[in-house]
Amino acid sequence: MPNATAVINLDIEGPTISRHLYGHFAEHLGRCIYGGFWVGEDSPIPNEGGIRLDDVEALRALNIPNLRWPGGCFADEYHWKDGIGPREQRPTMVNTHWGDVEENNHFGTHEFMALCELLGAEPYISGNVGSGTVREMSEWVEYLTRDGDSPMVRLRRANGREEPWRVKYWGIGNETWGCGGNMRAEYSADLVRQYATYCRDHGDNKLYRIASGASDDVYQWTETLMRQIGCFGCEATPKNYFQGISVHYYAMAGPWETKGSATDFDTDDYYRTMAAARRIDRILTGHSTVMDVYDPGRTVGLVLDEWGTWWDVEPGTNPGFLFQQNTLRDALVASVHFDIFHKHAARLHMANIAQTVNVLQAMILTDGDSLVLTPTYHVFEMNKGHQDATSLAVHLRGEDAETDLLSASASVKDGAVLISLSNLHAEEPAELTLDLRGRAVGEPVARILSADRIQDHNTPEAPHTVGPRPFDDLKTTDRGLTLTLPPHSFVTVRAPLVT
Ligand code: AHR
Repeated sequence: MPNATAVINLDIEGPTISRHLYGHFAEHLGRCIYGGFWVGEDSPIPNEGGIRLDDVEALRALNIPNLRWPGGCFADEYHWKDGIGPREQRPTMVNTHWGDVEENNHFGTHEFMALCELLGAEPYISGNVGSGTVREMSEWVEYLTRDGDSPMVRLRRANGREEPWRVKYWGIGNETWGCGGNMRAEYSADLVRQYATYCRDHGDNKLYRIASGASDDVYQWTETLMRQIGCFGCEATPKNYFQGISVHYYAMAGPWETKGSATDFDTDDYYRTMAAARRIDRILTGHSTVMDVYDPGRTVGLVLDEWGTWWDVEPGTNPGFLFQQNTLRDALVASVHFDIFHKHAARLHMANIAQTVNVLQAMILTDGDSLVLTPTYHVFEMNKGHQDATSLAVHLRGEDAETDLLSASASVKDGAVLISLSNLHAEEPAELTLDLRGRAVGEPVARILSADRIQDHNTPEAPHTVGPRPFDDLKTTDRGLTLTLPPHSFVTVRAPLVT
């Protein structure tokens, strides 16, 4: 049985893990918004103002910190004024990116802000650069965040909202290298400067502007943005045009053409997926290194505002709706990503899994009035104690082949340590010693997420096939704790710090 040690110095604290690393993304795509979040006020499905309440309850239990909307590719053909005012009078459009279906604009700005309020999540609005105008984006910011009296404030009040909302996170375009306009990095950087200029801070609402960034390991895009944008962390003019740069990365078992099934895969596919998940470490390191050259004080955040698995759609579903099942494999992809996010906490300010409901690596799958929590949901729930906690470095020791299949991270908050551990081996358990140094810990409490098979998943008929259970296969020793991680398992251990 593989045997490894994880050394954790409980008294050497690293950077804070922003809660926004546990962020989410909801696009007008397939059944994410319509059917997923929005059922309309007349629906028999319990709702508040048209927003389904079972979603809200499940996501509140994750302490969902933020929600990105309305896209994605959709954001660059979305015109926000079509989504305000009486719903039956709103113009319709064709969602050309996703399924070529008609969009009735019933879910618009007010509905999104109401959803964020119900969730207790911060809004992250992605503005249209690809087919919008500078004025359109500038007016959207004014509509949402300005107080007093102005044309957009009067329009907002006419639509029933007296007070401005608070909006911090603002995306300037999405994938401008692709669906957001097929631009070159140099041109896109210029547009970011232009659009960001007119996205004003109204009153004491301070925007955190996020420039549309690179895909995967295209570091040249980040380099161009950093080089062309100017002065970081200095008081001279021009000041920072943006506060964050985005990057997108999807984990797959193979190339786009042969992504494969979400549920029908073999062990080789599984290991290729785990390798793809681990690749996010090199990608974050690459972009961070480029940013360090121009911004050594780390005033600009890296924002991974799309990540997750991308499989073939479920048989019989609309190929443009990106509806996929979610297995234990997806859960382990998430746990590995989080370990790596924690390691990059000094530069990585936000991450948003794609997407929250019914699309790609979802937390929630709905079908009519049924709602299923996916294995990925449970990783978010088991890990939520890392939000806004102080990171601790974890040093894994053992044979290379053994530590390659283990992943771990740790943090402290509220007088307790939370340790996350994944055994990625498909068939072998792993014996792990947690060598806890610097402080003593009290009685640990552990939970495990695993299943008989890596392909196991939850359905309306069997919603609890993959769910967290108490885990008691751990012993307290002089050095800390020892435990045996079953194959393909995710375990969290929480213990109070007693000295
Ligand atoms: O998340 C699905 C799509 O993936 C998004 O719309 C786009 O930004 C990315 O290519």
